[in-house]
Amino acid sequence: MRLGINVDHVATLRQARDNTTYPDPAVAALLAEYSGCDSIVVHLREDRRHIKERDVIFIKEAIKVPLNLEMSASKGVVDFACKVVPYQATLVPEKRQELTTEGGLDLIKNKKKITGVIKRLKKVGVRVSLFIDPLKKQIKMAKELGINIIEINTGAFSSAKTKVIENKELKKINEAAKFAKSQGFFVAAGHGLDYENLSEITKIKEIEELNIGHSIICRSVFIGINQAIDEMFSLLKK
Ligand code: PXP
Repeated sequence: MRLGINVDHVATLRQARDNTTYPDPAVAALLAEYSGCDSIVVHLREDRRHIKERDVIFIKEAIKVPLNLEMSASKGVVDFACKVVPYQATLVPEKRQELTTEGGLDLIKNKKKITGVIKRLKKVGVRVSLFIDPLKKQIKMAKELGINIIEINTGAFSSAKTKVIENKELKKINEAAKFAKSQGFFVAAGHGLDYENLSEITKIKEIEELNIGHSIICRSVFIGINQAIDEMFSLLKK
């Protein structure tokens, strides 16, 4: 199981004051790399509320592990990604008012736009992953779009308020991961995963990568990022 660490919320803390340059997400990325993570994830949001362009550029230059840039399909961000050429781009939906990504990308509704964005990114050598809800129809569309990497949205599972809903969402993730794997996809998953809810997800063998940010960065405030990542790795190994 590969672990990608999302360092967005180091930048969130920095942006809590408009006159500081610390904490720097690039430092967090280097420490996460030192702790053995397999990739660094950042989301350059359209409103630039946490990660800025210069963070993406700095991080890409600083790290040796792959950089996975989460991004919407909006023109400005796609232009930037085509200039910076991260190892991978993960296309996500984006609404300005949302606190965090809400739901997966609807590939069926946005087929035309996404087709063009995939073409542009692939042309400059960026691997493309699609962040989608655990639904067969979305996986089928990802295949039709010529994609072989997906990230399954675990948000509904992570935020489930009852055990019944949690189990229902887990079943969807499990079935989607198995279907995607049978179709030849590399299957990642993420959103809202933490030290408590992780174990159910790690039982799904078809999921080969987890992308985790908020819970690790929050834990880092108290125990440091290296220990917070070590603890996550211990859970993955269990
Ligand atoms: N994967 C995707 C596609 C995301 O949008 C996010 C949030 O930026 C994550 C993973 C990480 O989610 P969290 O910060 O809740 O761990």
